[in-house]
Amino acid sequence: MSKLFEAIPFVENVLYEKIISDISTQKYSIIDDFFTDAEVLALRESLLLKYEEDTFKKSAIGNKVNEVVKKAVRGDIILWIDERFINAAEQLFFNKINDLKDYLNRTCFLGINQKEFHYAIYPKDTFYKRHLDTFQNDDRRKLSFVCYLNSEDWKPENGGELVLYLDKEDKVIYPFPGKVVIFESQIIEHEVKPVNTPRMSITGWLKTR
Ligand code: OGA
Ligand code: MN
Repeated sequence: MSKLFEAIPFVENVLYEKIISDISTQKYSIIDDFFTDAEVLALRESLLLKYEEDTFKKSAIGNKVNEVVKKAVRGDIILWIDERFINAAEQLFFNKINDLKDYLNRTCFLGINQKEFHYAIYPKDTFYKRHLDTFQNDDRRKLSFVCYLNSEDWKPENGGELVLYLDKEDKVIYPFPGKVVIFESQIIEHEVKPVNTPRMSITGWLKTR
């Protein structure tokens, strides 16, 4: 038979298998080296450039149906990334996201066919109160994904910890550069503690239709 019809061997990816096993046992996974230092740096520069160009807008609570700016709940400012117009750094970012998405769909049959990502900056003294990432009128978000883009000298005293509220004990995560947190959007309530130094990230969701 021609080579064309041979089955493509399935190559297990150690990192992705760890993410899958973490999520199935504890509903979240933390990865320190999902992106390279150079990729994180390029994404941070991209965020800062767009921030200077003033394309960020005040983030809103809820989706388009019920958009209300409510600083008492969240104070970050965000910029949605339109995948049709991405730069080189964002292309590398989405290459990895798409690779993970395809792996999850292939091995876990998650049926993820949509995604949405935005940059976020938490200015000094802002936070995001305890919440769930799904909307009352929309439960398509399956996995939440955050990658921190803070500078190399980020210190725990800067605040802005992500706290995951779990059954047994709460998980406190410091937003060190390059750290990636993935968790089940419909299950894990979480909060961003107040920051005293601007805090940068790229955040998004893998969704079903
Ligand atoms: C969010 C969120 C967590 C973080 O944007 O919904 O919870 O650590 N972000 O930035
Ligand atoms: Mn959230």
